[in-house]
Amino acid sequence: MSESTKNLIPRFFDKTALTYDKIVNQTTFAKDKYWKKEILKKIPQCKSILDLACGTGILTEKISEKLPDAKIVGVDITESYLDIAKKRFASKENVSFVKQDAEKLDLEEKFDCITSSYIPKYCNPEILVDVCMKHLKTGGKIILHDFTYPENKAVRIFWNLYFVVLNIIGYFIPNWRDVFVELPKLIKSTRWLGEFEKVMKNHGLKVELQQMTWGCSAILTGSNVV
Ligand SMILES: C[S@@+](CC[C@H](N)C(=O)[O-])C[C@H]1O[C@@H](n2cnc3c(N)ncnc32)[C@H](O)[C@@H]1O
Repeated sequence: MSESTKNLIPRFFDKTALTYDKIVNQTTFAKDKYWKKEILKKIPQCKSILDLACGTGILTEKISEKLPDAKIVGVDITESYLDIAKKRFASKENVSFVKQDAEKLDLEEKFDCITSSYIPKYCNPEILVDVCMKHLKTGGKIILHDFTYPENKAVRIFWNLYFVVLNIIGYFIPNWRDVFVELPKLIKSTRWLGEFEKVMKNHGLKVELQQMTWGCSAILTGSNVV
């Protein structure tokens, strides 16, 4: 992660935990729910899952519903987001949460599947894939999801107009202002999809790509085929 991107993490997440679930649903017109359903479809029946940058645990909860007996570990760097995730799972012993930087992750255990929704654009692909490989069992799967800048020119016009509207809305929701201003710049500048695909292939993973919602979002899956 470059220094400037790393600086965005506290700016985006320190004051937004309490409203995150509502805002992500509303600002994506509930597409976030659809994208997470598509992630879930790619998770195999397995015994252990690592959910990187789990945030408030929206995806973690869906994983737990699909695999109620699996061991699930959620990792995030932001305490306030983790606090909400922990409350969500207060009564589930097989789900736990750890505060760590995903790029420096060291859990001393391996998982059947690693998921992450919305982390790739913040991370260095070489470092994150390396970390994932260290925590992935032989035959395991890495599933990464994030926003992408659409390639279609007409879609780009609507996409840019939409962020102009969000910029204006940001004046009325000060805790989200930085996100609404900086997120479109980050999505336009990130090359996460191509870069992660290349690095995953270099690690010998079988890579599959699913683009969604007119190229506004994508899921990249790397399978450690034995
Ligand atoms: C947009 S939220 C997504 C949360 C969740 N995955 C979801 O889909 O609802 C992004 C999360 O990534 C976390 N994050 C960003 N960079 C991280 C890193 N290097 N290590 C761990 N967590 C990170 C932030 O703290 C934040 O909770």
